[in-house]
Amino acid sequence: MHAATLNPPRAEQPGSSLVEPPDADASISCRNVKVRFFTDRRSVTAIEGLSLDVAAGEFLTLLGPSGCGKSTLLRVVADLIKPSRGDIRVLGAAPQVARERRDIGFVFQDAALLPWRTALQNVQLPLEIARGKARAGRATPRELLELVGLKGREDAYPHEMSGGMRQRVAIARALVSDPKVLLMDEPFGALDEITRDRLNEELRRVWKELNLTTLFVTHSIYEAAFLGQRVLMLAANPGRVREIVPVNLPEDRTLDIRETREFVELAAYLRRVLETC
Ligand SMILES: Nc1ncnc2c1ncn2[C@@H]1O[C@H](COP(=O)(O)OP(=O)(O)OP(=O)(O)O)[C@@H](O)[C@H]1O
Ligand SMILES: [Mg+2]
Repeated sequence: MHAATLNPPRAEQPGSSLVEPPDADASISCRNVKVRFFTDRRSVTAIEGLSLDVAAGEFLTLLGPSGCGKSTLLRVVADLIKPSRGDIRVLGAAPQVARERRDIGFVFQDAALLPWRTALQNVQLPLEIARGKARAGRATPRELLELVGLKGREDAYPHEMSGGMRQRVAIARALVSDPKVLLMDEPFGALDEITRDRLNEELRRVWKELNLTTLFVTHSIYEAAFLGQRVLMLAANPGRVREIVPVNLPEDRTLDIRETREFVELAAYLRRVLETC
């Protein structure tokens, strides 16, 4: 076991960028973000004092205990909810502007496909809703289905597909308006391990090919380490940055990298930090 000889990766200190202005080169920039939810009986501070820069083209994975605000962070970046305080920039603009420009793609845990539409028709849906307002993507819906490994299954209906295939369709659908930023909230959480492994490898390929800035939420230490260039670790109550851990693994990764000493040590480190979140 390597954990005993563990050298922790040099991590960024939480809150160190609190007073700095947003990084103009960052794809996603958060400064002192707070999100508070109000219900009938009480209020919950889901995120407090969160500052973060995600570089253009970076793959950042998010790891943290249940309820620490991972989904909330994705939702404020995507303009699905508004922050109570703080500043968020997506490609230099407010999240609402980025959303309206269709710069953001979102993939949820549940593929949420329309059951009466085929794979191809589901991928085409955002373009139909935008009715010409969306820019022509670099890839057509057919090409995107091929990119996610579904060539030949364009006419399959959701009930004819496996969970992994449905998530592939959801990814293709998120990419159809040619977003620069891809937000993924535990997209493979409900899949079996082998399917998840395969999709992890394929996602890295797609990310590279399309040069996407990607924020990926997961509960899996191994998934976070395999996919990410950095791992953002959030602590709970209220949700805040515990640590940002760099992933010093080669960029060309296949799944067998998980057997290397570097990977095992990184995973052990992430586990130790997670226990303090
Ligand atoms: N719409 C809402 N109304 C009230 N409280 C909310 C709402 N959405 C989230 N919360 C609360 O905010 C906190 C953070 O929730 P969030 O869903 O972001 O956590 P999470 O890290 O994604 O958790 P999980 O890993 O279980 O998905 C939790 O305490 C949750 O109960
Ligand atoms: Mg969540």
